[in-house]
Amino acid sequence: MQNYTHIGPVDCDKPFNVKNLKGKTAIVTGGANGLGEAYIRALVAAGANVCIGDPDVEKGSRLEEELPGTKFIPCDVSKWDDQLRLFREAASSSPTGKISYVVANAGIHRQDEIFLNSGDDQELDEPNLATIDVNIRGTLYTTKLATHYFIKQNGQKPSSEQEDTCLVLIGSGAAFLDCPRAPQYCASKWAMRGIMHSLRRTAFYYGSRVNVISPWYVKTNILSDEAFAHVSSVGVQFAEAEDAGQCLLMILSDTSINGHAIFVSGRKWASKGYMDLDLDDHLGNSILNEIQEDQVKSAPVSLGLFV
Ligand SMILES: NC(=O)c1ccc[n+]([C@@H]2O[C@H](COP(=O)([O-])OP(=O)(O)OC[C@H]3O[C@@H](n4cnc5c(N)ncnc54)[C@H](O)[C@@H]3O)[C@@H](O)[C@H]2O)c1
Repeated sequence: MQNYTHIGPVDCDKPFNVKNLKGKTAIVTGGANGLGEAYIRALVAAGANVCIGDPDVEKGSRLEEELPGTKFIPCDVSKWDDQLRLFREAASSSPTGKISYVVANAGIHRQDEIFLNSGDDQELDEPNLATIDVNIRGTLYTTKLATHYFIKQNGQKPSSEQEDTCLVLIGSGAAFLDCPRAPQYCASKWAMRGIMHSLRRTAFYYGSRVNVISPWYVKTNILSDEAFAHVSSVGVQFAEAEDAGQCLLMILSDTSINGHAIFVSGRKWASKGYMDLDLDDHLGNSILNEIQEDQVKSAPVSLGLFV
């Protein structure tokens, strides 16, 4: 693993080899349906073992039955105790005793009470922030646990003995585009890049990497049929869940990929359905680069960690 350096956008057209994933253990939160299921199917096809953390017991158990090498563990990511159990069981059932990859995929999208106008004559009720609870609180719990296990396995002194580990956070087009009428969802998805930016320079110490996958519209259960019909009706092309699965395998296979956010764009914009828009560095902007350097130099050093 290398310390963070910007080496330009990832060449997503380059072939990759999944041999290093064989026998490794991954956790995928929100893995019982939709994109999470696609990540799991891709990981299993590459020979990895996968723990599925999801509150959907019926679908999670069905996947466990269908796919050898998977284990379903009921989990609501917004509950710390649930995630603690998910990671403990994943480590204890892992053939290597280790957790190599964590995909913080669980996420919801609901009508946003921050945006909705209650009307002049209404008392204002406290808005429901469930999207923040699942998408940000849940991901931060996942991040803390992933980091804990990665450090426990690898120590904090960079060496060639450290085994590659990787945290993958799930963003969205809403992590970098203007998406009207959804301030909570947008905040929660920009937050994924915020977490990645904060960790990508220190993950190196414990032999780890952190990246983001940002999918464009993919037909899953996250939006209603009506909402997806509207997307189609205005001529917008969808991205494919299988391409998101391949994007995950590319990130995990190539240990030089750290600190990137890859857009699962659909085939309209990229031959394999995903591309690096290279939005996460300030290429060619010397003032921003200078400010960034000062920020890294001046960031508070934490208690005993990563000194
Ligand atoms: N589908 C899209 O168009 C799209 C686009 C961009 C980003 N995403 C992101 O991809 C991720 C997966 O979305 P999807 O489209 O597959 O949605 P989905 O609704 O089809 O599946 C989400 C899964 O998460 C689970 N889940 C819900 N609440 C949970 C919780 N509290 N704890 C654990 N699991 C929970 C659900 O049971 C389900 O299995 C989300 O983070 C979403 O924001 C989706």
